Amino acid sequence: VLQQVLFKGPNTPPMVFHLLPVIGSTVTYGIDPFKFFFDCQRKYGDVYTFILLGRKVTVYLGKHGNQFILNGKLKDVNAEEIYSVLTTPVFGKDVIYDVPNAKFMEQKKLIKYGLASGSLRTYVSLMEDEVRSFLKRTPAFKGSSGTVNLPPLMAQITLFTASRSLQGKEVRQKLDSTFAAYYKALDDGFQPINFMLPWFPLPQNRKRNAAQRKMTQVYTKIINERRKRGDPKDSEDMIWNLMQCRYKDGTPIPDHEIAHLMIALLMAGQHSSSVTSSWIMLHLAAQPEMMEELYREQLRVLGNPANLLTYENIQEMPLLRNVIRETLRLHPPIHSIMRKVKNPLPIEGTTWVVPPSHVLLAAPATMGKDDAYFPNADIWDPHRWESIGDPMDQEKEKADYGYGVVPTGADSTYLPFGAGRHRCIGEHFALQQLTIVASVMVRTFRLRNAEGKKGVVTTDYSSLFSRPMEPAEVMWERRSENFSKQDL
Ligand code: HEM
Repeated sequence: VLQQVLFKGPNTPPMVFHLLPVIGSTVTYGIDPFKFFFDCQRKYGDVYTFILLGRKVTVYLGKHGNQFILNGKLKDVNAEEIYSVLTTPVFGKDVIYDVPNAKFMEQKKLIKYGLASGSLRTYVSLMEDEVRSFLKRTPAFKGSSGTVNLPPLMAQITLFTASRSLQGKEVRQKLDSTFAAYYKALDDGFQPINFMLPWFPLPQNRKRNAAQRKMTQVYTKIINERRKRGDPKDSEDMIWNLMQCRYKDGTPIPDHEIAHLMIALLMAGQHSSSVTSSWIMLHLAAQPEMMEELYREQLRVLGNPANLLTYENIQEMPLLRNVIRETLRLHPPIHSIMRKVKNPLPIEGTTWVVPPSHVLLAAPATMGKDDAYFPNADIWDPHRWESIGDPMDQEKEKADYGYGVVPTGADSTYLPFGAGRHRCIGEHFALQQLTIVASVMVRTFRLRNAEGKKGVVTTDYSSLFSRPMEPAEVMWERRSENFSKQDL
């Protein structure tokens, strides 16, 4: 009671009880954010404020909360003031959160053109080839069976498939040499600590800054060489697409901005897709009968498991689609979406006003873990989606608006890709990548939990993207190359 009186204004939401002033709830939130959200929801309802390293963070859960935060007006809620301390040193200047929102929305729109179905179609064979060749050349998958710690391998597969398709052939070639080291150094500087304590002179920040400069040079060199050679556009990679784009006022995108956008896409897509593919494989290892069902679906669509994927046939795999959907429900890579409050924001139906000193936090993923919306929410059951249908259909349509015009689409219990003006633009790319990776894995291997392991590992929330706690080992066994007709 004393705390509520001392630290909470008369009209502000309830304050989560804590003992230490600056630390507040940082530790409980950091260890397991979902447990924290649900525990507080039981005590305080959908709206409450907690202390995160000295900052007052107001959580607003449920559909109203998503609507309030994700579709808040631009003058009221702001993303760049929160995220830029983390992203600008990694992506570089003049893009994403380093520019006014109107310019970022233009950049998003231009990227989205480059991620349209025409490009995605050309990526299918590149991605499949990349997964197959990775499985062939990687020592951990040599022989007929073995045990592997999956996440680092899935991270590599994700990086190779994204590089080969979205990033273009030059980046893919460099990935075998210098580029991988730059990526690692950048990634080491893309951690919660960089977000929470951006002013702290961490030793890895120098390496991160150097890697950012080097990577920018790599991209600008690629752009210049393409121009110098007078090459006609020969692929649908994003570098080509951005080189041909113009801002609304007719100016082309400067080379350094293309470079920085390419870095942003690399970093934004890598972790969320990679952790999702790990979770998919870990669940299949824990439920091998689901893996066999998926294998049968592959045979039904492809006829022969050695046949190649196409843009058309990957749309005909409803079970695989549901496996991905269900995995994103139970293991959303992003648990917290934050915005800076810019004006006092009254909360409808209450006397509370969220003041501009607060940060707002939306956690749409909590609904995916709530029995009220998804019965037996803890159980991973891809078949549940057969009766629910495609929750994203409506979302997808709404998401195709011109950015900055009518931000909508928060009224769903399933928002793994967010909603509103900051909604993900990588969704279709990620779903295609996950489908292709899973399809090749399912056709190549049978998976089982490693000896003595039951169920699926717990979640590690210590990085920016929730990921499987390592070691996350599974046993793999190669499927017979000569499958028999009766498998069909
Ligand atoms: C935004 C999730 C893959 C690029 C977002 C947001 C979410 C999300 C929840 C909203 C963030 C916010 O409102 O603050 C995911 C998941 C993915 C995925 C679950 C994979 C399973 C990708 C990929 C790319 C990408 C592959 C790039 C190729 C972006 C970008 C934004 C975004 C550029 C916009 C941020 C903004 O407007 O502020 N993503 N994402 N994402 N994502 Fe993704």
